[in-house]
Amino acid sequence: MRIGVLTGGGDVPGLNAAIRAVARRSFIYGYEVRAIKNGWAGLVEGNIVPLTRSMVSGILHVGGTILGASRVNPFRDKAVVRVSLENFREFGLDAIVAIGGEDTLGVATRFYEEHQMPVVGVPKTMDNDVIGTDYCIGFDTAVTTVTDALDKLHTTASAHHRAIVVEVMGRHAGWVAIIGGLAGGADYIFTPEVEGSLKDVCEHLKNRWRQGSTFSIIVVSEGAKIREIEYSEEELGDKDEFGHVRLDRRGLGETVAREIERRTGFESRCVVLGHLQRGGSPTVFDRVLATRLGVYAIELVKEGKFGYMAALQGNKVVPFPLKEATSGIKTVDVELYELAQTFF
Ligand code: F6P
Repeated sequence: MRIGVLTGGGDVPGLNAAIRAVARRSFIYGYEVRAIKNGWAGLVEGNIVPLTRSMVSGILHVGGTILGASRVNPFRDKAVVRVSLENFREFGLDAIVAIGGEDTLGVATRFYEEHQMPVVGVPKTMDNDVIGTDYCIGFDTAVTTVTDALDKLHTTASAHHRAIVVEVMGRHAGWVAIIGGLAGGADYIFTPEVEGSLKDVCEHLKNRWRQGSTFSIIVVSEGAKIREIEYSEEELGDKDEFGHVRLDRRGLGETVAREIERRTGFESRCVVLGHLQRGGSPTVFDRVLATRLGVYAIELVKEGKFGYMAALQGNKVVPFPLKEATSGIKTVDVELYELAQTFF
């Protein structure tokens, strides 16, 4: 048995822990492992090399991915799909473990459904928005970074009596904004799930000031919907191979900070956490999650249960159909947002 492993989409801490788990469990069964470099790009280009025991040694706690990552989509072109299938055969692969979010797992689903490629998935994305799993690798580390940042920003906001707007990642779902905001004591949260308004946040901040709170922390998800703010296609620029625009180009946090200052007169600042949320060492939770999911992926391969991903449901790792996992996005329940609102 020869298993290819790849990591696609945005990197997160915990990927190396998952790669190590895939490799170590494979070696126990006497399987060979191949590193498919830079996500699906490696399959397209035939950039596939042996992954040895020494290569996965000492990487458990290291952020990033030793395999490299990209947002290359083989389904952009039929000829590219053909080349990918040829490479799968040429490199003698018997299965692929695809570690990624909606886009990477979406490609895995199509290879399995349309071309019967033996693929299993492992969910990773700091956005935490993959259907069928309670948690994705990288989310816990990202929200820990957000919470640390909010703790630090509270003291400076308080010292200077300012409103500090903190822009966090989260394209379609506000898991990072809402859980990070809850844990870090945010005074207001803008998220993609619930349309917010500048009018409401300004009213809220003025009320806080009247009640004696002379500083505020406002968390803004980069993909948040805010009634008074719209962007034209032109302002958003080119799309990637999966049709996504670069949300950092919106500069939503900066716009919100400027508007708060203009509308309320309170001095405001914006902090964009950006890729810091995807850096550093994985938390205990992410290390263990990545290890459990990586090991389980090899169990799925061993059983020939292709077209599934390893998913965490409650405290159990279970198989979950890739087709269902990639049929949409797991957004945050409104009840959780309402819970966070209790503390605004
Ligand atoms: O896919 C996860 C994500 O972290 C999104 O929240 C964000 O919009 C995007 O990646 C940014 O990715 P990059 O700048 O690496 O292309």
